[in-house]
Amino acid sequence: MRPSKKTLKVDVLDSRLRGNDNQKHSLLAFYLRLHKNLGINLALMATHFTFPSHLLSTDGLSRGDTLELLALASDYYTRNQATDKKHSILKGRTLINLFFENSTRTRTSFELAGKRLGMDVINIAAANSSAKKGESLIDTAKTLSAMQLDALVIRHASSGAARLIAGYVACPVINAGDGSHQHPTQALLDAFTILHHKGNIEGLTVAICGDIAHSRVARSNLYLLQTLGAKVRLIAPPQLLPNTPEQFGAEIHYSMKTGLKDADVVMMLRVQTERVQGPIMASVREYFHLYGLDKTKLAFARPDALVLHPGPMNRGVEIASDVADDVERSGVLDQVEAGVAVRQAILESIVRS
Ligand code: NCD
Repeated sequence: MRPSKKTLKVDVLDSRLRGNDNQKHSLLAFYLRLHKNLGINLALMATHFTFPSHLLSTDGLSRGDTLELLALASDYYTRNQATDKKHSILKGRTLINLFFENSTRTRTSFELAGKRLGMDVINIAAANSSAKKGESLIDTAKTLSAMQLDALVIRHASSGAARLIAGYVACPVINAGDGSHQHPTQALLDAFTILHHKGNIEGLTVAICGDIAHSRVARSNLYLLQTLGAKVRLIAPPQLLPNTPEQFGAEIHYSMKTGLKDADVVMMLRVQTERVQGPIMASVREYFHLYGLDKTKLAFARPDALVLHPGPMNRGVEIASDVADDVERSGVLDQVEAGVAVRQAILESIVRS
């Protein structure tokens, strides 16, 4: 008797779950292509893997678990194309987004992700919270936790804030950016976008350019991309590099010409003016001339190089408009789209495990 479609699917999944990381990597690329080309629904995917109880950093995420998570995200990515995007998989669960720093993409994306999974979602902006009345971060977190949350997403200007409160609350904590330290969900959605465009990450050269010193996006990507087998280059003026950049295992470049040479992916970063005191560049004009990504500098990279930026973009500072808006080269809006699906996969994995 021919196995039913459902049995076949389960067989594929079982063999996938037994495979090593290399097999998982190529299977994920295969699934992504299937999703893209055929819109196949892999609803049964990735329900078996273990995910950490909090998501605080990309340091320590294994290659296998990351690929499983991205496979689940690819399922949500496809489902998000449908008219009815809502599910009930986390119905009745509560998510609080606690944001002590400004955000457009990340906060909206977590809110949509939670709502599309059926969660009740509450957004708290620090400007409207008791933090303004002198309440400590720990007391705020403990107060919210007492309301029987199922997940707490936090963004804070202090490095280490997410890890600190994870020790005081009874629910999973997801770090949505802590100072210059980590922004793990951004790196996961960046990895998803690269896989979606390139079909693979292993062996790719990814150039991260701009304010590396103050960027949590750079730190999270440095760990995750290398875990997934990419070669990472950092391109920045010396004053925008961390003190000991060699510790991250990436190649260091001070010029866009050498740093972008034959790169497969170019990830541009905003200068984090809110995290530095005093001027860090002689002038915006000079910075753009040396480090802003325009068509001339992009030509140093591979002809099919993918341009990424976590947003918000400062046009004419780190990126030229004609590059940012080039639909053939820029994956900036794809990153935003991937962000919702990746956060759905994270919420599902973390809340259900
Ligand atoms: C980044 C952040 O907040 O760290 N943005 C984002 O989350 N999409 C990058 C930045 O602010 O420059």
